[in-house]
Order: sequence, then C-alpha cells, then structure tokens
Amino acid sequence: MIVNSLKLRDYRNLKEVNIDLDSVLNIFIGDNGQGKTNLLESIYLCSIGRTFRLNKESELINFEENKSLVELSLIKNNYKINIELILEKNKRKQVFINKVKLDKTSEMIGILNNVIFTPDDMKIIKGSPVERRKFINIDISQIKPKYKYLLAKYKKIITERNIILKNYCTKPDNKDIINIWNDYLINIGTEIIYYRNEYINNLKKFTIDIYSDISGNKEKLDINYICNIGNVNDMDKSDIKDLFRKKISSNFQQELQKCTTLYGPNKDDLSIKINGKECKYFGSQGQQRSAILAVKLAEIEIIKNEIGEYPILLLDDVLSELDSKRKGYLLNYIKNIQTVITTTDDNDLYNLTKYSNKKNFYISEGKIGNITN
Ligand SMILES: Nc1ncnc2c1ncn2[C@@H]1O[C@H](COP(=O)(O)OP(=O)(O)O)[C@@H](O)[C@H]1O
Ligand SMILES: [Mg+2]
Repeated sequence: MIVNSLKLRDYRNLKEVNIDLDSVLNIFIGDNGQGKTNLLESIYLCSIGRTFRLNKESELINFEENKSLVELSLIKNNYKINIELILEKNKRKQVFINKVKLDKTSEMIGILNNVIFTPDDMKIIKGSPVERRKFINIDISQIKPKYKYLLAKYKKIITERNIILKNYCTKPDNKDIINIWNDYLINIGTEIIYYRNEYINNLKKFTIDIYSDISGNKEKLDINYICNIGNVNDMDKSDIKDLFRKKISSNFQQELQKCTTLYGPNKDDLSIKINGKECKYFGSQGQQRSAILAVKLAEIEIIKNEIGEYPILLLDDVLSELDSKRKGYLLNYIKNIQTVITTTDDNDLYNLTKYSNKKNFYISEGKIGNITN
C-alpha cells in the first residue's frame, strides 16, 4: 500500500499542506512544537478516524477556525482510494471514501493500514492492562473488521449486565434475565477471546525471531495472552465457551457482592517477558525499547500476511530514542516499507542518505517545504 498525497486545511497548526509522498522514505525534520506529530496524526486519522493522542476531537481543528479538512490518496491492490475527513465544531465528523459518505466512522477502519511507533508506545510495556488491551484492540480491528463490532457489542453487554447485578437482590425476576445476559456475555466474549488468542499467538511467533535478531541471538522475548477466564491456548471456540461458562457460574456470588462483571475479555492482559522475566519490572530501558521495536515490526508482518501488502509505517521521533545498533536494524528492516519519519535531529538525515528513494521535508511553524538532496 502506498500513500501518494496528503492535503490538509486548518488541521491543528497545519493551515495549508499539499504534499506528495515518496513511495519509500519520507523524513520531516523540524524543531519541537512545529507540527511534526500533528502531520503524522493526520495520516493516522485517515486509518481509524481517531487520534492516538488524548485530545478531544474539536482540538484537531485549528484554534482560529471552525472547520478542518484532511484528504489522503493511496493505492491499495492497484486500486486508487481517496479518504476525506471533514471536522467541524459542534458537528459529527464526516468521512468520505472515493467521495461516498460513510454512515459511521468505524466503517473506514481497515482501508488505510498503518503501524505507528511513538515514544509513548513504551506504555504498552510500562502501563496498565488498559493500555495493552487498547493496543491489541486497535491492531485486531485494522485486520478483522468484525472485531470492532464485537467490542462495541461486548461493551454494551457489560454495562447492561452490571446494572442487573446491582439490582439483583431487590428484583427477583432478574434471576431469569441474568441468564440471558450471561449467554450474551459468553457468546460475544468468546469471539473476542478467540480473535485475541489468534492475534497474540501470531505476534509471539514474529517477535521471537525479530527480538532474537535485535539482541544478537542473546535474549528471548516471550509474549503471551493472559486471558482472564483461564488458559485458552490451543482451545477452539467451544472449549473457550465451556471455560467461560464455568468461570461465570463458579464466581457468581463474588460478582453479586461487587456488583460488576469480574470475568471476561474486559479484564485481559498481555505478558511480555525477556529471558523468562517480566519486562515491565525487570527489563532495562534498552530491553524495553527493543521489545517495543520487535512488537512494532511484528505488527507490520501480521498486516502484510493478512492483507498481502505492507502497511505504511509512521515513526514519530523514535530514532533518537534508539541506540545506533537498534536504529540500524530498524532502518534496514523497513527498506521496502513506505515510512514517514519525524525527527528534530539533522544527523538522522545523514544516517538516511543511503536511501536512494526518499524525500526530505522541513517543517516550521506548521509550514512544510521540500529539502532538495
Ligand atoms: N488546534 C490547534 N490549532 C492550532 N495549533 C495547534 C492546535 N493543536 C495543537 N497546536 C499546536 O501545534 C504545535 C505542536 O505540534 P506538534 O506536531 O505536536 O509538534 P512537534 O513538531 O514537536 O511534533 C503546538 O505549537 C501547538 O500549540
Ligand atoms: Mg512531536
């Protein structure tokens, strides 16, 4: 997949951008606060319709304006696709694919596949299980369109089931109703667990080899799915369902006491270990960075396997975080993958000179210009 061009109007501090991207490497160099992350964010927005930052949607529109436009064109399987987003203050965002308006933003997920790597990704290792579930959910949604519907449905089921648990003692007829919601929970939850198990096994497979290469065959990275209902490795859907049902029935009293759903994929986690030790607690900064790098490169391979084309890779200010060995490994790995790199460091331009296919851009106060080689 290749992104050919990007057009922005009043997107954050990027008032007017019209750029054609190189099919391999694109480097945006600029000081802090000039708009580099904003630019990557606008590309990311075209993949899932949401920002990867914590901001509210209205903050994506330039402070002085009421409306913002993001337009991107790409080639996927030899087919030209135009993605357009219109953001307006106090209005629902509008998304158009080849000029056809989508009913829901989520329908755009899976068209532009990307992998983004930012310094913030360390929270996949260091952060709470919520961060790891978010990471898994976004990744699976990109390649399995059904998954995001299951997640949305599951969320509603949990909300409804928690209300029933809360009122259980005072409303006797809830005894029948809870059984219905248990079935919903188990059926939809099982589907989610099945997708996650498959995805994490894939991730595990790729990260083992990649991490071993990065560490010079000295260390082993082991990623495992910590499914909250128990070990589901190698289980088919009916086994998962049986396990889920047992967990729910044997812990029902506990759930009643706490008035909340305690078991299911809403409580899942990932374990990331290096040489058998949990990376979060025992990994050095360098090992944690290598582990994340391996995860990101594995994400690329999983998407390639699934859709037959490489995704676009967005690297936000991460080169300076990597030592020269890891940087070299990464740059060598991505030789055939369209990549957008942002950096504050002039040296990165020199490190990347060996690439014949590349475009260099400077970015200053939201204005972008070409740097001729
Ligand atoms: N909605 C907005 N309108 C105008 N400027 C914005 C908006 N949101 C963020 N900015 C500005 O964008 C700049 C930060 O851009 P960013 O892409 O994060 O910089 P960097 O080049 O360091 O990655 C800041 O100066 C910030 O004030
Ligand atoms: Mg930035």
